[in-house]
Amino acid sequence: MSASSAIKRIGVLTGGGDCPGINAVIRAVVKTGLLDYGFEAVGILDGYEGLVKDRMVELGYEDVSGILTVGGTILGTSNTAHPFEYVEHGGQAEDARDVSDQCVTNFEKAGLDVLFCIGGDGTLSIAHQLAAKGLPVVGVPKTIDNDICGTDVTFGFDTAVQIVTEAIDRLHTTAMSHHRAMVIETMGRYAGWLALVGGMAGGGDIILIPEIPHHMEVVCEAVGGRSRRGKRFSLIVVAEGVKRPEGGYVLRGRVEESHEKIRLGGIGVWLANEVQERTGVVSRAVVLGHVQRGGSPTAFDRVLATRLGREAVVQAAEGRFDVMVGVQGRDIVPVPLADVAQKQRLVTADSQVLHAARSVGTCFGDE
Ligand code: F6P
Repeated sequence: MSASSAIKRIGVLTGGGDCPGINAVIRAVVKTGLLDYGFEAVGILDGYEGLVKDRMVELGYEDVSGILTVGGTILGTSNTAHPFEYVEHGGQAEDARDVSDQCVTNFEKAGLDVLFCIGGDGTLSIAHQLAAKGLPVVGVPKTIDNDICGTDVTFGFDTAVQIVTEAIDRLHTTAMSHHRAMVIETMGRYAGWLALVGGMAGGGDIILIPEIPHHMEVVCEAVGGRSRRGKRFSLIVVAEGVKRPEGGYVLRGRVEESHEKIRLGGIGVWLANEVQERTGVVSRAVVLGHVQRGGSPTAFDRVLATRLGREAVVQAAEGRFDVMVGVQGRDIVPVPLADVAQKQRLVTADSQVLHAARSVGTCFGDE
């Protein structure tokens, strides 16, 4: 008996922050399951929340038709629901309890044979924990942060880079006209990929990322140096995870029922004030925020998401579980979730992308 003949019904959920391309993955999973293997499909609503609370919908061909280009997720998502440390909405961290048995019960009750978990490091780490309880899971890495180990790139990243680039292009002309320093704050959590790649594509003069500690003297000298050379404006791209030189992260808030309690945000405003005070150059800050996660995916992300969704189904059909599908070189390969869980892929000093940015004179605030 081949592994796929043991599978009849597949479940799919989307967890963590949304990003462009999730619907393309859902579509690929459901259509591949249906067309290539004759599987039935079930969508679990709002990430692990739906698995805990038994909220599921049948997904047929028509349900996933026409969603390739649509941003967000038709299934809804949650970046707070954690089956092993579950806190009811509005609750406190100390109320957390392990409701993972409920997930197993609901999985069995729905007659599911495999669970596809589309999400970032949090969602994939939980998937790995569920696998240890016997659930056959396959992960699909997703995030605009591009910080998941075991994959060269995540879908959603290319679209977010495009949004950052367009924003910088627009801010360029207004910065030039007013002879200002324009600070653009990107998302990315503790990884600098979005600021680095988006900043490079937009021609950022100074790019600050969490992986490279900066000195304000160096940043201000770069702004001043440009003015002295007749470039009376500067574009400064800063990742939300950059720390103040003598302080910690700048936070926009806390979410008590979330496993990841802090929400980064605000370093851009701090930086713009600091640059203006130290250099006298009028400065403004623009926080790109959730705009980076919205809207239709780029062509690259649509294709990547479709390939990942299809390969995820192939892994399950071939009986490979507790893995995610990752991009390595030109191929999509199975990667054990154990190698991915609780890890982050950050920008390293030997990154060729970083070298290229330095070679064209981009200042990273360190030298
Ligand atoms: O992980 C994706 C991400 O957009 C991060 O870049 C950002 O720090 C975080 O999610 C924002 O979370 P929330 O949607 O809860 O504000």
